[in-house]
Amino acid sequence: MAEASAQHETGSRSEPASRSGGRVAHFFYRFSYRHGTPRWDSLEVHREVKALVADRQPGRALDIGCGCGTDAIYLALLGWDVVGVDFVAEAIETARERAAAAGVTPRFVLGDVTQLRQIGIQAPFDLILDTGCYHSVPDQLRESYAREVTELAVPGADFYVAGFYGPPKTWRLMGASGVDAADLLRRFGKDFQMVDHEAAGDRGRMSRFIRYHLVRKQHATIT
Ligand SMILES: C[S@@+](CC[C@H](N)C(=O)[O-])C[C@H]1O[C@@H](n2cnc3c(N)ncnc32)[C@H](O)[C@@H]1O
Repeated sequence: MAEASAQHETGSRSEPASRSGGRVAHFFYRFSYRHGTPRWDSLEVHREVKALVADRQPGRALDIGCGCGTDAIYLALLGWDVVGVDFVAEAIETARERAAAAGVTPRFVLGDVTQLRQIGIQAPFDLILDTGCYHSVPDQLRESYAREVTELAVPGADFYVAGFYGPPKTWRLMGASGVDAADLLRRFGKDFQMVDHEAAGDRGRMSRFIRYHLVRKQHATIT
């Protein structure tokens, strides 16, 4: 574990070996970061993230698919102990550079979000964010994703997921089907309660972007 962790955190440019189902997604994201600024890298902190932490004592936060680190850096500036993870080396490098420029030191880890503990990320987390990652995780890897998130979240932890439902047909190449409430409840419903969801409400493409807020249940469900 220590070796794996070190490999992912030395700043090495070597990409994590993507799991078979995630190769197309990895190729897509890597291409996006290598060829200009991806459209999601707006440098704007998500307003829902701001709302989630307003008037709240800082704790430990995990940003899943952190990209260039905007939300993670914001949380670190507020005093949160933050870990961000992404499987594209360019994104992680940019995140580290921007964090250094902002004078904070969130921990940015290069690796796959379906293998969080294997890449050295350890519980507990009070806040877990996923803005735009889960929706492109291939369906066959989502059980692994759910297991990792569930293991890392403390009882009462907030889990915020935002993404597209009904994504374009081309996403089938990634084996991903977007995100919807039924999918989340099937995978997380035993251990998390869905407390809120909201459609973006904007017109056009973003009208299919939905935000979900789940909270880790206090007690394990007895089955
Ligand atoms: C749409 S971007 C959003 C980035 C960031 N959360 C933001 O809002 O700016 C999705 C991010 O998830 C990352 N990602 C997707 N699948 C991943 C996986 N299986 N493991 C690690 N990172 C992943 C991509 O590299 C990309 O940076």
